[in-house]
Amino acid sequence: MSVVWTFPTRILFGEGVVEEIGREAAHLGARHALIVTCAGVADAGLASLVGQALDMAGVAYSVFDSVTTNPTSTQVDRASEAFRGAHADLVVAVGGGAAIDVAKLLRVRATQEVALADLAGDGAARITGPLPPLIAVPTTSGTGSEVSRIATVTIERDHVRRRIVVSSPTLLPNVAVLDPRLTLGLSPELTATTGFEALAHCIEAFCSPALHPMADAVALEGIEIVARNLERAVREPRDLAARSAMMEASMMGGVAAQKGLGAAHALALALGSEQKLHHGLACALCLPAVLDFNRSANALKTARVGRILGARGDDVETLAFEASGAVRALRKHLHLPAGLAEAGVTDDELPRIAAVAAADPAHLGNPRPCDADDLLSLLRASM
Ligand SMILES: [Fe+2]
Repeated sequence: MSVVWTFPTRILFGEGVVEEIGREAAHLGARHALIVTCAGVADAGLASLVGQALDMAGVAYSVFDSVTTNPTSTQVDRASEAFRGAHADLVVAVGGGAAIDVAKLLRVRATQEVALADLAGDGAARITGPLPPLIAVPTTSGTGSEVSRIATVTIERDHVRRRIVVSSPTLLPNVAVLDPRLTLGLSPELTATTGFEALAHCIEAFCSPALHPMADAVALEGIEIVARNLERAVREPRDLAARSAMMEASMMGGVAAQKGLGAAHALALALGSEQKLHHGLACALCLPAVLDFNRSANALKTARVGRILGARGDDVETLAFEASGAVRALRKHLHLPAGLAEAGVTDDELPRIAAVAAADPAHLGNPRPCDADDLLSLLRASM
């Protein structure tokens, strides 16, 4: 057996590093950048902060600010037209996972004659690099998209909508710029749900059975950081130390997730596409049942997760048993809903959501194999 381990992204981290974007852009040989963002981030003045930094380095820029929460192929196409129209040679994504995902994919559309719908699954091999360079500037702490090779997009074609995942090393940003000041304005609710996504990435990656000791170490430390800082970031939104820590944990979750994820992600992604449920919230609501389901297959790892999250017990069995309760307790402290029902999901929708989750490759990384019936049981246990 052989495996490939890579941690290739250049990462700038710290208060004020957004001001270094101009230098990074110039270093990449850029003359004109397209800033890809959403209206909310632009209105908050974060895109213009990046624009100023580009200006200072003599790099011209245009702005595409029409990204929405669940990005579509139409948005990617329009962004790639903006890129070509501006004769741009660099993309700078400023925002949450949606803006970064659109930025990743527009580089493919702008330079290759290939339909996005054909890039799902094995189709990603059709992407022939190198693509125009990408600098990713996250403004939330959750997706870790700035260090991941994955982009998700909803294909809109002939009134049919289909969500696809594109995974290719060519999609990796060249530089990730992590400035925690950019997250100071996040609402407590969004801080909690995005923070839970970072936690879910770390927990599911750690529990996934693939051989990747470095990702395991990154994931474990990520869980520790969330355990120590998420409540503080929610309670005290202007606490820069807590914001910095959560930005670290989010990035670490993105790095660790290359190892694999699990059933909570398959369910959360299906709940996102079928119910428009926020991805981080869906992770928070499904994770406890998944930890219980997996316990028989990986008690030791579940126990380690439980211990970090504050579960009490003197032996592996007790700690593993208490792990799901520790996640529920954190969820409660963050004032998140107590289950899918409270979040608006109804019983009659569960079979369809389970079928969509069963088709999602995310659950293939789950430590205990699960089919559509198992996923339906997990949804019922998460109500
Ligand atoms: Fe995720």
